Amino acid sequence: MKALILVGGFGTRLRPLTLHVPKPLVEFANKPMILHQIEALKAIGVTEVILAISYQPESMLNFLNEYEKKLEIKIICSQETEPLGTAGPLALARDKLIDGSGEPFFVLNSDVICEYPLQEMIEFHKSHGGEASIMVTKVDEPSKYGVVVMQENSGKVEKFVEKPKMFVSNKINAGIYLLNPSVLDRIKLKPTSIEKEIFPKIAADEQLYAMVLPGFWMDIGQPKDYITGLRLYLGSLQRKSPSNLATGSNIVGNVLVEESAVVGDGCLIGPDVAIGPGCVVESGVRLSNCTLMRGVRIKMHACISSSIIGWHSTVGRWARVENMTILGEDVYVRDEVYTNGGIVLPHKEISFNILKPEIVM
Ligand code: GDD
Ligand code: MG
Repeated sequence: MKALILVGGFGTRLRPLTLHVPKPLVEFANKPMILHQIEALKAIGVTEVILAISYQPESMLNFLNEYEKKLEIKIICSQETEPLGTAGPLALARDKLIDGSGEPFFVLNSDVICEYPLQEMIEFHKSHGGEASIMVTKVDEPSKYGVVVMQENSGKVEKFVEKPKMFVSNKINAGIYLLNPSVLDRIKLKPTSIEKEIFPKIAADEQLYAMVLPGFWMDIGQPKDYITGLRLYLGSLQRKSPSNLATGSNIVGNVLVEESAVVGDGCLIGPDVAIGPGCVVESGVRLSNCTLMRGVRIKMHACISSSIIGWHSTVGRWARVENMTILGEDVYVRDEVYTNGGIVLPHKEISFNILKPEIVM
């Protein structure tokens, strides 16, 4: 079985983390986002993953080489010369997707995180016999997603509306599809939106079915959702494989600490924290609802909440970093500095307080 992951897009909403690293390679819970997906695909028997890329192919290609061997799965690239949207890349990869078996293939948005019930999706797809299956999930704020109106019992989709202005339904497209090869006949090789141009037509032909996704779901393409997504993911890990989570008297709730990270005495860590490889958390530090990417140093008595600290950044002693502060790579926050929602570009030194959410160039 094959799968295509939509990797393109500039990931602007996750800047400054995506200035040097393509969004799918940004770590989430200490693992590049896309690896969560590739591992889930591998687990249900996918043998070949096609990455549809339109941006920063070099770093993506390096990544491929490393993980093809590690994961024993074929990973190939399908590179666009201009962004082809969410459907055009399928037409471009047509020859790579079709192998004569007539089997359906998976298509995934690269920034969604969930428990990936892909085997259940295969069963669902077989059961309805339509051309395409999509996973849907309920959210409170449907207007920023693709919204689906479906028959409750059969799952048949009556209407698919991308980012509607008016309320249509609270069930939204979770960005995980299982498509018959015949869907490719509906897509031309030009910039095309699968959500705006293809799904509404398949729905009109009564060939689109939706399965309500069990478990949590999050599009982690924006900082606030990334942090919420980490809470949901760690909660799910707590239920499924709690031995992966940190324990100890200094740990509150669900916390993930990479083996090579060092945490000093008298810290209080959690809930919902991920500490990446090579991080050094000095004594007396307080961390909650945050991610420290690889190689971060948090100096004594600093306090960090609801924030993402980019690769190899340093936060000084008694500093307070909170409220969706996002530090790019190699940022230095000086001792005693306060940042409330600062978005700080890579390689900056912050020696002044950031009192309200703003971008620091
Ligand atoms: N190869 C390629 N080329 N990929 C692209 C392109 C492109 O030109 N444009 C976007 N993508 C990829 C993105 O990287 C992402 O993985 C996926 O397509 C969806 O694009 P987003 O920019 O993340 O879209 P969205 O989050 O606003 O909306 C989409 O996802 C929602 C769920 O998270 C839609 O599919 C919605 O219907 C859906 O509800
Ligand atoms: Mg998205």
